[in-house]
Amino acid sequence: MPPDSKFTKLRTELEARRSRHLYRETRTADSPQQPHVVVNGKRMLTFCSNDYLGLANHPDVIRAFQQAANTYGVGSGAAHLVNGHFRPHQQLEEALAEFTGRDRALLFSTGYMANLGVVNALLDGRKDRVYADRLNHASLIDAGLLSGAKLTRYPHNNTVHLRQRLLAQEDADATRLILTDGVFSMDGDVAPVQKLALIAREHDAWLMVDDAHGIGVLGKTGAGLLEAEGLSQDDVPILMGTLGKALGTAGAFVAGSNDLIEYLIQTARTWIYTTAQPPAIAAATLVSLQLAQTETWRREHLQALIQQFRQGAAQLGLPLMPSDTPIQPILIGSSEQAMEISRKLEAQGILVTAIRPPTVPANTSRLRVTLSAAHSAQDVEQLLAALG
Ligand SMILES: Cc1ncc(COP(=O)(O)O)c(C=O)c1O
Repeated sequence: MPPDSKFTKLRTELEARRSRHLYRETRTADSPQQPHVVVNGKRMLTFCSNDYLGLANHPDVIRAFQQAANTYGVGSGAAHLVNGHFRPHQQLEEALAEFTGRDRALLFSTGYMANLGVVNALLDGRKDRVYADRLNHASLIDAGLLSGAKLTRYPHNNTVHLRQRLLAQEDADATRLILTDGVFSMDGDVAPVQKLALIAREHDAWLMVDDAHGIGVLGKTGAGLLEAEGLSQDDVPILMGTLGKALGTAGAFVAGSNDLIEYLIQTARTWIYTTAQPPAIAAATLVSLQLAQTETWRREHLQALIQQFRQGAAQLGLPLMPSDTPIQPILIGSSEQAMEISRKLEAQGILVTAIRPPTVPANTSRLRVTLSAAHSAQDVEQLLAALG
């Protein structure tokens, strides 16, 4: 091979992505996360953030972050088991356990790492089995693949199929783990968690729900899909939630029984072998968690915006997906067309990202509209007018 043929390969692959309208690029923001932002030097109204409750730029959250940085500094300096576990981390773990009605919670630096860590701690290679919804988030798919366990991807939300597969693969020695998003990140619909809990119990399988998009948004106190569906730790033994979406900060947690958390502390490699998140992030999250629980108007306003958007979009005849959550995708199909519409909206000062394969299945490119309690009814009107 000539010396730079490896780079030629990269360039060829990049070009192929461009020609298939699958090329991805970042935009640079010069303002906080909020509906009206400055992106690539231009003022835009955005509908693509996961800051569902509008807490990422809340003055109380910022103040808590600043005060904790004054007290504890910026970097945590070490992993949790070395000397990187600070008082705010401990307080946040306790608050998250209480919030979710679980014995304990354990903080991870990101949701991606939490998923990799838990799945790989519980499964032991080829002798074990993992059952994952086909539309699960990439981090759950990667967690299953990395574990080396036999991976079955069942059709989206199809519990009949899942049950059949479990029945066909009874094996007393195998640990079995059912993995599902709570709210599906690119679709906005929710998993049939009550049925899944029943099936998991019948087959003595673990059930893990990744509620990255449900925490803060669903349930009476915002504790997520499992609160909304009345499911306890006995029903769903492993709950993963993220802090970087509705709670407006960064990181993630896993909540469950004392035994589960102790086991993860001993074995979850993405928790053990990494620097703890900065303590100021935990301190800020303690405040945003409090706001998420007490300021119920945020969830109520968000629900009103969701209804307003769905009604307006239906009147325009837009192909909405069956979702009652702040994730309201408009199904387009071709990546080229999705990109073109996204660009046209951008020219009108509205930012809605086009989501394309491999994030979503082939021919299901979509505009992923997300709503936030920080939006006003007028913002939604503006989006509908532009879409019209
Ligand atoms: C369903 C789901 N799980 C996990 C993650 C990963 O979380 P994090 O961004 O904290 O790594 C995301 C998105 O980022 C997600 O949408």
